[in-house]
Amino acid sequence: MNPEIQQVLDGASDGCIVCGDCLEVMAEMPDGCVDLVLTDPPYGIHITKKANQYGRSTHLSRKATRDRWDDVPLSTIQVAELTRVSRNQIVFGANYFWPLFSETKCYIVWDKRGSLPDVPFAPTELAWTSFDRMPRHYTIINHGFITDMSEPRKLHPTQKPQLLMSRIVVDFTDVSALILDPFCGSGTTCVAAKMLGRRYIGIDISSDYVAIARKRLEAVDTGVPVKERDAGQLPLFTGHDGESDGS
Ligand SMILES: C[S@@+](CC[C@H](N)C(=O)[O-])C[C@H]1O[C@@H](n2cnc3c(N)ncnc32)[C@H](O)[C@@H]1O
Repeated sequence: MNPEIQQVLDGASDGCIVCGDCLEVMAEMPDGCVDLVLTDPPYGIHITKKANQYGRSTHLSRKATRDRWDDVPLSTIQVAELTRVSRNQIVFGANYFWPLFSETKCYIVWDKRGSLPDVPFAPTELAWTSFDRMPRHYTIINHGFITDMSEPRKLHPTQKPQLLMSRIVVDFTDVSALILDPFCGSGTTCVAAKMLGRRYIGIDISSDYVAIARKRLEAVDTGVPVKERDAGQLPLFTGHDGESDGS
């Protein structure tokens, strides 16, 4: 098994981000070893190649040609594997993947529009869950150019709002939980888990996104967001990450 994941499972580490194909990485993990899989897999809809009248996808289109991460959608075998290693699952893109999942009482609806006027962006996203409880509804605006996302944007073309993932983590896990995101992208699930004192394992096939996710996790400790950190801003308080001004 990946040694970093082994350390998390042994309780010797609070979390890790691993680069690899999640199917291969999960294959080495024991049954039911994490409390929750919370993930936003590729939908296979070539999302980043689509254009709209607002021009938002121009940047995304270039990215898609580079790494094509959305070309292959979540598969039956990946669903079987993420279900095997976890006690519960929350998977975004439920409206794309409905044949892959069983019936559930508990969908999560992310309302991205609230009371804003309709524009040609999806007003909601849907997550399937394995929980036997009432559906949940979260309104967090991310509609065209209007957004409640407070974190730096564009670290990933489909970056989820950290506030959304944090609210899901609070509502669906205990503080002792270990959360796995096998398609972690820029690491939003893991950032939410870490900020809320949960343990986490993130996996992504792209070394670029793994690097970004690791920086975001570091930023939870330093308080300096990734873009500011890359631009040379130092932590407000020294000693968080081994960097010291010597005073
Ligand atoms: C929809 S994005 C996740 C974005 C993430 N929710 C965020 O906030 O940044 C899906 C991610 O799955 C990754 N991915 C695609 N196939 C994979 C595989 N077989 N194993 C691991 N990661 C994979 C892609 O590189 C991409 O970053």
